[in-house]
Amino acid sequence: EKGGYDYFMLKEIAEQPKAVADTLLGRIDASGSLTLDEVRIPGSVLREVDKVVIVACGTAFHAGLIAKYAIEHWTRIPCEVELASEFRYRDPILDPGTLVIAISQSGETMDTLMALRHAREQGSKVLAICNTNGSTIPRESDAVLYTHAGPEVAVASTKAFLTQLVACYLVALYLGQVRGTKWGDEIHAVVRDLAKIADQVERVLETMEPVRELARSLADKDTVLFLGRHVGYPVALEGALKLKELAYMHAEGFAAGELKHGPIALIEDDLPVVVVVPSPRGRSVLHDKIVSNIQEIRARGARTIVIAEEGDETVVPYADHLIRVPATPTLLQPLVATVPLQVFACELATARGNEVDQPRNLAKSVTVE
Ligand code: F6R
Repeated sequence: EKGGYDYFMLKEIAEQPKAVADTLLGRIDASGSLTLDEVRIPGSVLREVDKVVIVACGTAFHAGLIAKYAIEHWTRIPCEVELASEFRYRDPILDPGTLVIAISQSGETMDTLMALRHAREQGSKVLAICNTNGSTIPRESDAVLYTHAGPEVAVASTKAFLTQLVACYLVALYLGQVRGTKWGDEIHAVVRDLAKIADQVERVLETMEPVRELARSLADKDTVLFLGRHVGYPVALEGALKLKELAYMHAEGFAAGELKHGPIALIEDDLPVVVVVPSPRGRSVLHDKIVSNIQEIRARGARTIVIAEEGDETVVPYADHLIRVPATPTLLQPLVATVPLQVFACELATARGNEVDQPRNLAKSVTVE
């Protein structure tokens, strides 16, 4: 049942190109328009939405953090993202103009369920993004967009995360389409780029041997830090979460711009720091800032592990280890940049003798608060 792989996690990592393609399937027509008939919330309601609130836990929360950038950029609707466990207890401001998006692989996470119940009680519409047919969260929501990752068995989420991202991009683009936001051409360009992503993820998977080797060489380390900016920041958080849960190492993700506000004090000789570098095309300010962050930490002794786009030569002098990912638009980069971090965490867990599919103290779905 593990399809020849030692662990479900390895199998699920390898299934990501298909999971991504399946989640896109049938949702974009030949003209490049989105056909999300499943989203049964009427266009008239979606046109009135004045705020989007995303609630989720763990890895699904990281998908939500990335979705915020896409939703705000493509639709200009303000978007908040909140941990489901925090949401309900602060008496959030919700009304019928708020669209709440609940993201959950299992569809059974209690905190996420309680958050959406609370939102519906306040009159907000809830759209679930979920991987499990007929589970509680989609049943209790106004509409659901299913991710088509197939069953995810390993406790650490991999393919579900990538498909959550795809679903979030689809929702963002759909909102833009329904509301006729000014992004016509940009939406079509993004749709074309999304169609290429499955192949690009496949290419990343084909180049992972050096990442595994690097992971094995770090098995005795205590700490790994992760830095990113913009959508690379939630990718850094996700890389750190994977490493905590699988390798039981101290791992933290930071927004690179926060370095000098504290975290840079942690840098010491030979400390591994993974840096997610955005494309040098497009938002080049972001790129240049992170290159100087890499220089700053390296000058203080960090061992830099740099994830950068193919052809980005500016990072080469400052990267002790360089992991290449295919060129994508900045907003879509998490789909390719997360994959090496999954492989990295999985290999470190194996090297440290940990149980990959069943990390200690964790359950696949958390049905208590
Ligand atoms: C991390 C992980 C968890 C889940 C979280 C939410 O690898 O698997 O952080 O993402 O428990 O679970 P769902 O998506 O089922 O609501």
